[in-house]
Formats: sequence, structure tokens, C-alpha cells
Amino acid sequence: MDDVLVTGGSGHLGTDVVRLLLERGERVRVLSRTPRAGTDVKTFEGDLATGRGIREAASGVRAIVHAATLSPAALRGQVLPVDFVTSPPDVDVDGTRRLLEEAQRAGVQHFLYISIVGVQQSRFPYLRRKAQAENIVRSSAVPWTILPATPFYWLLARFHDHMTEQRIWFAPSNLLMQPGDSAEFAPYVTERLLAGPAGDAPCFGGPDVLSQGDIARQYQAARGLHRRIVEFPLPRFAVRASGPQTCDDGRRGATTWAQWLAKH
Ligand SMILES: NC(=O)c1ccc[n+]([C@@H]2O[C@H](COP(=O)([O-])OP(=O)(O)OC[C@H]3O[C@@H](n4cnc5c(N)ncnc54)[C@H](OP(=O)(O)O)[C@@H]3O)[C@@H](O)[C@H]2O)c1
Repeated sequence: MDDVLVTGGSGHLGTDVVRLLLERGERVRVLSRTPRAGTDVKTFEGDLATGRGIREAASGVRAIVHAATLSPAALRGQVLPVDFVTSPPDVDVDGTRRLLEEAQRAGVQHFLYISIVGVQQSRFPYLRRKAQAENIVRSSAVPWTILPATPFYWLLARFHDHMTEQRIWFAPSNLLMQPGDSAEFAPYVTERLLAGPAGDAPCFGGPDVLSQGDIARQYQAARGLHRRIVEFPLPRFAVRASGPQTCDDGRRGATTWAQWLAKH
């Protein structure tokens, strides 16, 4: 009962969490659909969407960081109209339920769920899936922590990379966001995991609250682009439906969006 399982251990956040846990002397396993050969990490081939391999990955584990997710918009780097209508439940909802069942069977002592700030208020389908997953975690018999973060810089960069060919960029002026570096979130995740179950834990966010126009301007400055940015206010119902994307009282990263862009 010594190992720690990290789902999403091959993703942006999970890779850093795995490395930090190894540095702390933990024995770490990763659940992945396409395991890679590694010396220090046991990789378990499995799929949260079908249930394949979850029992094997969870058995003999004392704690789980659940950081796997499936956001179609994040994968393609672009939000399409369909993303405002639906989002697949297989990984985030059904997969979380399956993983918790196996965690309970295995006697896991701490289940740490990585979430996103504002999911309980948001109407955006992918974030509704994360809210459903939070609720499943809260009603589980496995001792848990839910740790939400604001949007990560890598994702903002991916969305903006897909806009570089567009001559005009539209940016809601009243949609505030406090994005952060997932690499700075990872030490907080590790600390919280080793501290034990805490229920709803304080969020993680970056150092600055930015408008979408600020985010776009800093991206263009870093990449030497000169596209016209048209700022416009979203109607109030749309802002409410987006949910809050800032983290007022939680842990703050130090790296700014501009500094991150300069490094990547
Ligand atoms: N990105 C953001 O802006 C952001 C902001 C706040 C919070 N979060 C949350 O932070 C966590 C990590 O996000 P991230 O941005 O680091 O994610 P990411 O880089 O997109 O990685 C997604 C991970 O999910 C795994 N995964 C996807 N489908 C799976 C399946 N069917 N079975 C098993 N594993 C599956 C992938 O593993 P394989 O491909 O190896 O199977 C991959 O490791 C998520 O819970 C996310 O909701 C993200």
C-alpha cells in the first residue's frame, strides 16, 4: 500500500507532479492510454473511458492524484459551437466514478481531484462535466481533497496559436481571468497530497487578473504579431454563465503570462 497513482501523469500538470513525487522519494505509478517506457515510474496501460486497466492501476495504492481529463476544445486548441452544447462524459464523469469505485475497493486513503475554479457556477458543458465529477468525489466514501486551479498558460497559448492567421481578434472586455503556470501548481498539488484529505482546498491561480484583451496583447507582443484586437463587452448573462475564472484567496504562482510566453 505504498504507491501513489497519478492519472493524467503524462499530461502537462501530471508530468510535473510525477517528477516532484519521485523527488520526495514516493513510489509512483501512472495510468495512461499509451504508456511509455520509464525507469522510475510504473506505467499502467488503461483507459478511464472504458474502465480498462483501472483495477490493476489502483490496487496496492495508498493515494491517487486524479489529473486525467478530456476537453475536446483543449485538444484541438479551438472552441467550436459544439463545445457550447455538449462535452463527452466518458473520462471526466464516468471515468472518475470508475476510478473511485476501484479506489474504495483498494482501500485508498486519499483521493485528490484536480478541478477548475468556478465549475459549479459555469454553464459551459466541459466545466459542467468537471462539476459533476466534483460532486461524485464529494459523495464518495474515499477520503478526498478537491483542488481547483484557474486556466493554465499552456492552454491559453494553444488557443492563441490557432488564432495567428486571423487578422481581427475579438476579446470580451469583461471576462476576467487569472491564468497560471501548471508547473507552479504542481508543488502545491504534491504538498496537498502528502498533507492528507482536506475536502475543498483553496484554489491555485497566477499572479495577475487579466482581461481577454490583456491576454491577447501580451501574446502578440511576445510573438511579434500585429493583429487588430476588438474588445467588446459580453452580455451579463454570458459572463455569469462563464463562471468565475479568478482565485482570490488561494495559492498564487509567481510567473506572469508575459514571462511564461518569453520562456516558451
Ligand atoms: N488546462 C487547463 O487550463 C486547466 C486549468 C485548471 C485545471 N485543469 C485540470 O488539471 C488537470 C490536468 O490538466 P492538464 O492541462 O495537465 O491536462 P492535459 O495536459 O490535457 O493531459 C490530459 C491527461 O489526461 C489523460 N487522459 C485523457 N483521456 C484519458 C483516458 N481515456 N484514460 C486515461 N487517461 C486519459 C491523458 O493521458 P494519456 O493521453 O497518456 O492517456 C493526459 O495525461 C485536469 O483535471 C484539468 O481539468 C486544467
